[in-house]
Amino acid sequence: MSAQKPQILAVIGQGYVGLPLAMAAVDAGWSVIGVDNLESKVALINGGSSPVEDISDVQLQAAISKGVYRATTDFSLVAEASAITICVPTPLDEKREPDLTLLRNAATAIAPYIANETLVVSESTSYPGTLRDIIIPIVNSLKPKDSLAVYFVSAPERVNPGDPVWNLKNTPRLVGAIDEISQQRGLAFYESICDAVVSVSTPEVAEAAKLLENTFRLVNIALVNEFTQLCSASGINVYEVIDAASSKPYGFMPFRPGVGVGGHCIPVDPLYLTWWARKSGGKAEFVESADAINHGMPKYVAERALDMVDASIKNPKVLILGVAYKPGVADVRETPVSELRDHLKTLGADVAWYDPLVPAWEGSKPVDLDWDCDVAILATKQPGMNVGQLIAKGVLILDCTNSLTAQAGVSSL
Ligand SMILES: NC(=O)c1ccc[n+]([C@@H]2O[C@H](COP(=O)([O-])OP(=O)(O)OC[C@H]3O[C@@H](n4cnc5c(N)ncnc54)[C@H](O)[C@@H]3O)[C@@H](O)[C@H]2O)c1
Repeated sequence: MSAQKPQILAVIGQGYVGLPLAMAAVDAGWSVIGVDNLESKVALINGGSSPVEDISDVQLQAAISKGVYRATTDFSLVAEASAITICVPTPLDEKREPDLTLLRNAATAIAPYIANETLVVSESTSYPGTLRDIIIPIVNSLKPKDSLAVYFVSAPERVNPGDPVWNLKNTPRLVGAIDEISQQRGLAFYESICDAVVSVSTPEVAEAAKLLENTFRLVNIALVNEFTQLCSASGINVYEVIDAASSKPYGFMPFRPGVGVGGHCIPVDPLYLTWWARKSGGKAEFVESADAINHGMPKYVAERALDMVDASIKNPKVLILGVAYKPGVADVRETPVSELRDHLKTLGADVAWYDPLVPAWEGSKPVDLDWDCDVAILATKQPGMNVGQLIAKGVLILDCTNSLTAQAGVSSL
């Protein structure tokens, strides 16, 4: 960092990525300004309440009371920073294509205040070329005339919320810049915060690597979902097959089947890749096929569950157990259970749901676990969910989580 400047970092976006980064930088001796355009979130954070599970209120309050962290909606404060990291969402639009509106807004909002010699980093997940083709032109066209040198780096975040082992500090960080001096600035910045930093030759390599990492998960989950359907049709227990294959000490990594993929990363990021492929005149057929297979799972699960019900029942009552996209969280973003519910309804079922961590979901409320049903689908095994109570009552259950032992009335995927 510039010798004349205090170590002030501005983090744009105070969510799952931005707030943990702010706290890790505080731990590393930085003074941090957390900028977010949502006033209510800024007020919550400045009041000492953390909006993300990975940061405790105690940690946040300590940083605020030491005067080394504050949240703000005022973008002009980035003028004090020698480094600015952009950590805003990169969702899909209604056509399920990349929506970089928030990223553009963030670049536009910081640009007029950027001081000379500032490092600007994009941590948001996006397709290759986002830093060079979107962020840099915006910043360069709007920056103050006297900010002669601005250094640009892509360093995609790899955080896995709720992971007890891997965090921002001990997960190696990719750094790719547009030129040598930006690379040196970027490496020095992340070396001050992370245990290991991996230097790559361009921002596009870092951006592409992030898409590869998440697409790797998507296609492997699709493979096992497809494989599950094949095994099930032949009466083979897929979980036993996966365990058997896992005994190979090299070249195999186990993935488990389920209702589909959820959360805001695995279902979303590969669509950045397929869009980028089309834009470049190519086609990511393998990835598109994986996405289609995963999106076929909710229908497959719905049909499997209804097959378990007596055919004379016209409108079977189906109870979905667990609607969050993974166990232990209340997060329902992109949950495949939405598609499962819709397929069940299309097939004539009367559907209700139960999830001890989710108080409301898509305009509906949960029912009690003892809701009278013809079949239950265990979609996500939440802690504290007493499925044994249903088994004891003789309720038919389709287990999509492999968490119930084989017994009468219980089928697995
Ligand atoms: N959450 C994860 O597990 C994870 C992991 C790796 C990468 N990522 C990527 O990191 C990025 C951020 O994701 P997240 O999960 O932290 O999102 P988030 O929704 O938790 O938080 C983003 C924050 O940015 C704020 N914001 C939106 N637009 C803004 C703007 N123009 N200026 C200032 N603040 C703005 C929002 O109010 C919100 O508080 C995305 O690109 C995501 O794909 C997320």
